[in-house]
Amino acid sequence: MSVDLVVVGVGYVGLPLAAAAATAGLSVVGYDTSPAVREQVGQGRPHVPDVSGAQLRALRADGFEVTGDPAVIARAETVVICVPTGLGPDGGPDLAAVRDAAAAVSGHLRPGTLVVLESTSFPGTTDEVVRPILERHGLVAGEDFSLAYSPERVDPGNRRYGIRNTPKVVGGHTPLCAKQCVAFYSRFVDTVVVARGTREAEMAKLLENTYRYVNIALVNEITVFCDELGLDVWDVLHCAGTKPFGFASFTPGPGVGGHCIPVDPRYLLDKARRAGSRLGVVEAAREVDSAMPSYLVERTTRLLTDAGLGLAGSTVLLLGVAYKAGVPDTRESATLRVAAELTALGAHVRYHDPVTGPVPELGPPVSDLDSALRDADVTVLLVGHGGYDLSRLARNARLLLDVTGRVPGEEVHRL
Ligand SMILES: NC(=O)c1ccc[n+]([C@@H]2O[C@H](COP(=O)([O-])OP(=O)(O)OC[C@H]3O[C@@H](n4cnc5c(N)ncnc54)[C@H](O)[C@@H]3O)[C@@H](O)[C@H]2O)c1
Repeated sequence: MSVDLVVVGVGYVGLPLAAAAATAGLSVVGYDTSPAVREQVGQGRPHVPDVSGAQLRALRADGFEVTGDPAVIARAETVVICVPTGLGPDGGPDLAAVRDAAAAVSGHLRPGTLVVLESTSFPGTTDEVVRPILERHGLVAGEDFSLAYSPERVDPGNRRYGIRNTPKVVGGHTPLCAKQCVAFYSRFVDTVVVARGTREAEMAKLLENTYRYVNIALVNEITVFCDELGLDVWDVLHCAGTKPFGFASFTPGPGVGGHCIPVDPRYLLDKARRAGSRLGVVEAAREVDSAMPSYLVERTTRLLTDAGLGLAGSTVLLLGVAYKAGVPDTRESATLRVAAELTALGAHVRYHDPVTGPVPELGPPVSDLDSALRDADVTVLLVGHGGYDLSRLARNARLLLDVTGRVPGEEVHRL
């Protein structure tokens, strides 16, 4: 029996995609190589924040399952690849999962199928990396099957913009491939935007995330400079943010984290290096971003010194380990970098995060937040999770460094 959609890689991107398509009435099956993911989804326990347990159980009741058998691909009308694209040991693109997934698809590809890559990667990936693998068994893209790239724009934890109301960019290997891809996504996305080709669609995704990366670096650089000049950066940001045109607000922080914003510019830089080009703005942003954890350690040390304490031997309580507020994801989290630097300098690091729970890299979290706040020589609020009672943090901490700029009170030390 055929299925409308097989999602290859059922993670942060793949599971919400499967849910959106199934909710719109498509028959969907997942294919994932991880037994842990298959087991968890099989038990109706979502492992990503944007799909609830009730939603997943409803999907399961409608026939949604995740299999480890790639033969399911032979039943698909459309295959969407959503596997990870991380960094290799040299800090460059690691496309191993994309290659493996494409090989699995290739072995079971039927004529007439639409294959879409959603994983983020550099321009040329769909055409130069994925297409040759898919064509290994004799079928030709654009003739025997359709091939397209469509970047995922999901913002985990965002309640306002989800898959349906976030415009979807698609780039086809041929105009007909693009047309088929538009028809597919139009079944559950309101607006589909057609790129000139797969490379433009790939580059659009990298531009979007590099835009965030560069602007966060800019605001972080201005924050450090405001500190040098004795200016209140939060007031500066508030004032600049009132301009109704030509200025988009970004907030300072401990450095970017998550699976996309710190990683995607590396794909762009690697592509530029291989093309013999230099992207100076992106490189400068990278330099600013990598210096932010050290800057926070310096600010923490300054607070302790002013209180007559040294960093070595002091207890530092870090609040928030997730890479951003409201998500349980600690991938590339700047807090982990801050914790490592503090520990290397002899501080006793403790931590708390109401959303992630225990983080294996950091050992067990504090169990009683109020007493941990009272015990710590200094507390650093790094992530403004909704679960934090900010006034209570200010009341109970001996010294508080607020990286989020949200804790009220004159006694609070802000970034
Ligand atoms: N997480 C986000 O918010 C986000 C947003 C936009 C784009 N992206 C991009 O989407 C892609 C997927 O990211 P993610 O966050 O969903 O990753 P993830 O790690 O949450 O999920 C990927 C899934 O793919 C599975 N997998 C790995 N190799 C496989 C293979 N060969 N065959 C089948 N399954 C395989 C893994 O077991 C995992 O369940 C990446 O390229 C990422 O950069 C992610």
